[in-house]
Amino acid sequence: MTVESEKDLEGLLKIGRICGLTLKYLTEQVRVGMTTKELDELGGKFLEQHGARSAPILAYNYPGYTCISINDVAAHGIPDHRVIRPGDMVNIDVSAELDGYWADCGGTVPMPPVNADKQRLCDFSKRALAAAIEVAKAGNPLNAIGRAVETEAKRGGYSLIRELGGHGVGRFIHEPPSVPNVYLRSKEARQPLTEGMVMTIEPFLTTGAIHVETDPDGWTLRMKGGGLVAQYEHTVVITKDRPILVTAV
Ligand code: CO
Ligand code: CO
Repeated sequence: MTVESEKDLEGLLKIGRICGLTLKYLTEQVRVGMTTKELDELGGKFLEQHGARSAPILAYNYPGYTCISINDVAAHGIPDHRVIRPGDMVNIDVSAELDGYWADCGGTVPMPPVNADKQRLCDFSKRALAAAIEVAKAGNPLNAIGRAVETEAKRGGYSLIRELGGHGVGRFIHEPPSVPNVYLRSKEARQPLTEGMVMTIEPFLTTGAIHVETDPDGWTLRMKGGGLVAQYEHTVVITKDRPILVTAV
């Protein structure tokens, strides 16, 4: 969506904050020994207490309030009886709706013991998100985001999953445009960012994989060839300067 009024911005900031707080809460609650379903139910309750509805359920009838993706699962991992184990890389993705406004955020939480390789992957993924936020301003082309993410990933020796990236958001969970994490030169990728545009920025840095395939459950996106992945995501509103991070808390 494009923010066109004070009401739009308020509505977006409200659901953005709820998503951000839910992610923060789950990041604090996640621990070795609990199941992904237990974690997800905490998220579902938290959203409900704040009057928000889970976006994946509302939009796609997804079997969980949040997406919880572990190790070689890049995205859309279904919360289930899988027990979180020491050293797991747990990605928590929270998206929700309130009063017709939608927001989306996510982050990877490495479970102890966290070795240096896993920490470095997380650090570079956060840096890629930060670098993309720096260039996400009105007047710059959309592909400045992919270029910034790609530059940062390459600097760390990491790869990017081609099928996964940011997207428009605000009046639904997935809206145009798609926001690739690599530098593309298509007409869509070259379109200028304009004030008020609402989108997610969400780099998925990996230790080698560039593609995902869907598990037989129809949802789980697992990296081809395996490896590890880290993703950090914010919903942003484009302005002339730094974007407004609506899911930052
Ligand atoms: Co997203
Ligand atoms: Co997300």
